[in-house]
Amino acid sequence: MNSHQNTIMIAIDGPAGSGKGVLARHLAAHYRLQWIDSGLMYRAIAIQLGNRCWTSLTADEQRHIIAPLRAAGAPSESHPAIRHESTAQKASMIAQTAALRTALLPIQRARANNPPAPLRGSVMDGRDIGTDVLPHTPYKIYLTASLAIRAKRRYKELHNVSKTTRMDDVMDDMSRRDAWDRERPVAPLRKAKDALTIDSTHMDEEETWQTACRLLKTRGLERTP
Ligand code: CDP
Repeated sequence: MNSHQNTIMIAIDGPAGSGKGVLARHLAAHYRLQWIDSGLMYRAIAIQLGNRCWTSLTADEQRHIIAPLRAAGAPSESHPAIRHESTAQKASMIAQTAALRTALLPIQRARANNPPAPLRGSVMDGRDIGTDVLPHTPYKIYLTASLAIRAKRRYKELHNVSKTTRMDDVMDDMSRRDAWDRERPVAPLRKAKDALTIDSTHMDEEETWQTACRLLKTRGLERTP
């Protein structure tokens, strides 16, 4: 029997600021899973690329950038710009490159399939997890919220770090990035047909993850002792 058959995989997709990361963290603790933040991979690559584009690199340069993701798993959060909106915008631009997505796909799947013991599986969040990366898992969540509330949440996060952050800019940046992510031809942000939808506009963190657990239970996912 394939050892992957017993590995639990939860896919979470949704637009920027919908709370995917917070939900993933809760679900990881609740079901004893590793959390894989796929957005962090795109952000880390965006930083490494600087002003270059993926397709202008030699095969060796591409391997050099991808290697740490393969070896260490999670990209480091330690770069000071990793959570900046400018990095997210850059990530969204490079995420349109089919060749880059093709290179990341096997790495993302291998990580999801090989959770470190004693974890039972993986919860991965991003834009194309339920549609492209883990299309066979029955545990798919599409997490959304109104643009106004998503921008408000993101403003709070960013304002904690930089007091010069402006609400209008956050809203503009977010809607621009949503449009890029939804309208790109490769692996666009889309709800998988069989995804469980949660609209967290009027929910707090606790209600969101309780709702997710309740819905996942309807698909047969139980917490184990
Ligand atoms: O935290 P937030 O939802 O704002 O962004 P993120 O998940 O860190 O992702 C940053 C950008 O990476 C997104 O806007 C997408 O363009 C891209 N991304 C993607 O294309 N596919 C994924 N699975 C994850 C992120």
